[in-house]
Amino acid sequence: MTLLITGANGMLAGDLLPFLEGYQTRTFTKEELDVTDEKAIRDVLEKERPRVLINCAAYTNVDGAEDEKERAYSVNARAPGLLARECRRINARVVHISTDFVFDGSKPQPYTEEDLPRPVNFYGLSKLDGEREIQKHTDNFVIIRTSWLYGHSGRNFPATILKRAGELEELRVVYDQVGTPTYTVDLARAIVTLLEAPAGIYNFSNEGVASWYDFAYNIIELAKKEGMALKVRRIRPVLSGELNLKAKRPHYSVLHKGKYRRHTGQHIPHWLEGLERWLKREIQKQKTQGEKR
Ligand SMILES: NC(=O)c1ccc[n+]([C@@H]2O[C@H](COP(=O)([O-])OP(=O)(O)OC[C@H]3O[C@@H](n4cnc5c(N)ncnc54)[C@H](OP(=O)(O)O)[C@@H]3O)[C@@H](O)[C@H]2O)c1
Repeated sequence: MTLLITGANGMLAGDLLPFLEGYQTRTFTKEELDVTDEKAIRDVLEKERPRVLINCAAYTNVDGAEDEKERAYSVNARAPGLLARECRRINARVVHISTDFVFDGSKPQPYTEEDLPRPVNFYGLSKLDGEREIQKHTDNFVIIRTSWLYGHSGRNFPATILKRAGELEELRVVYDQVGTPTYTVDLARAIVTLLEAPAGIYNFSNEGVASWYDFAYNIIELAKKEGMALKVRRIRPVLSGELNLKAKRPHYSVLHKGKYRRHTGQHIPHWLEGLERWLKREIQKQKTQGEKR
């Protein structure tokens, strides 16, 4: 099966590629294929003729999207529609990644695929319209909604917390937003499992629930256990409102994963277990980089 990956320089794409070794895979960075360029998409798809296109391209700066609405909408909403339409022309499936931020956070239980989306920020709105555009143009799609992604490249929460914990005695972290941190490596495995699943929307995140405060607390505790020298002494829980961020976030965005489990029979690791694996790999990465210097 031939696969085509867009947004190949992104955090998720980087951790997805090692799982695709058994497939014939063609990767395209933003510079090689701009997913907002209709003609470029058509030319690439005509040439490559993939069976499945995995769209890892996105505009992911949640606060930035409030200011750069046109750019965010073009990448997150219009581009998935273009990709879906061109994929339909060559009978290819679209696998697309969406977000827990399509929900407003007012539900007190995990969100299922059937719950009514109602985004509270522009990023969420652009991602929801991206889902709708895909469904308008093809029946052959898998949309995977995920949450609080972190991996081994780019800006991500655990890496930022560890950097700050090395520099500051006190960190301020939000405790009134609850969701599930998701390790890109676990999401990558889920994407491969869903490549040939019945068309539709699937939720996938790690198991368990945490606030950003809980997440930060555990990152630091695990890092200390691994012997990392950190300057931080206190983590102060704060309310979202105290941070004056541009974009509102849902207070609760845990995803219900019953559909994924039913269709795949796969075990989903707890977020703490994912975090432990992430940290060990980061430490190994730093050691290897240190040895090379
Ligand atoms: N990160 C999270 O917490 C989170 C949570 C839930 C869902 N998701 C979803 O998960 C998916 C993967 O996220 P990620 O964290 O891996 O994002 P990421 O690291 O920001 O990767 C996205 C990639 O898309 C590229 N891109 C931007 N505009 C493009 C264009 N016009 N054409 C082609 N490529 C373009 C980006 O390039 P530049 O960086 O050069 O612009 C980047 O390499 C996204 O759909 C995101 O919405 C993420």
